[in-house]
Amino acid sequence: MANSLVIYFSRSGENYFGGELKNIEKGNTEVVAEYIKEETGADLFKVEPVNEYPADYMKCIDVAKKEQQDGARPEIKETLEDISEYDTIYIGFPNWWGTLPMPMWTQLEQLDFSGKAVKPFVTHEGSGFGSSQRDLKKLCEGAEIKKGLSISGGNVYDAQDSVNHWVSE
Ligand SMILES: Cc1cc2nc3c(=O)[nH]c(=O)nc-3n(C[C@H](O)[C@H](O)[C@H](O)COP(=O)(O)O)c2cc1C
Repeated sequence: MANSLVIYFSRSGENYFGGELKNIEKGNTEVVAEYIKEETGADLFKVEPVNEYPADYMKCIDVAKKEQQDGARPEIKETLEDISEYDTIYIGFPNWWGTLPMPMWTQLEQLDFSGKAVKPFVTHEGSGFGSSQRDLKKLCEGAEIKKGLSISGGNVYDAQDSVNHWVSE
């Protein structure tokens, strides 16, 4: 069993790439999560909300903004309850309105991060991590938060080498 785990959220559907709307079959963050699995043998856990986000980008940003303003903890399809067998936890997400999508809060608040190494990664359209690294300190209390990796969503297919370099740091 691999001793590292990737917990991530990623949304397919319509998204912005450098000012242009495109429909993508696989979310950007998922592409990075799969590189990490390929390089390290890590297990993957995808956080999936019960109520899927709209594929329509404009609708999705409205739903996400409201959830954030309300401090929502959207119900998720499956909840991971025990990460005790893992040493390193990669946490991946798109920057949504400056931080992690709320379903990640639903999941991360359930877990005991004491003594874990956490390696965060984000995909974004210009804002990098935003305030998510500060939020992660609260969400992953007791973990040692390592250097994060920030990748522009439109560049994920060119980023495998930098992902591999970062995982080995
Ligand atoms: C609801 C929503 C909110 C977003 N907010 C931001 C933001 O505040 N800053 C930013 O740089 N990108 C923002 N983006 C762009 C995403 O972070 C970016 O496209 C990311 O790569 C999407 O990852 P995914 O395909 O894995 O879901 C937002 C996208 C969505 C759908």
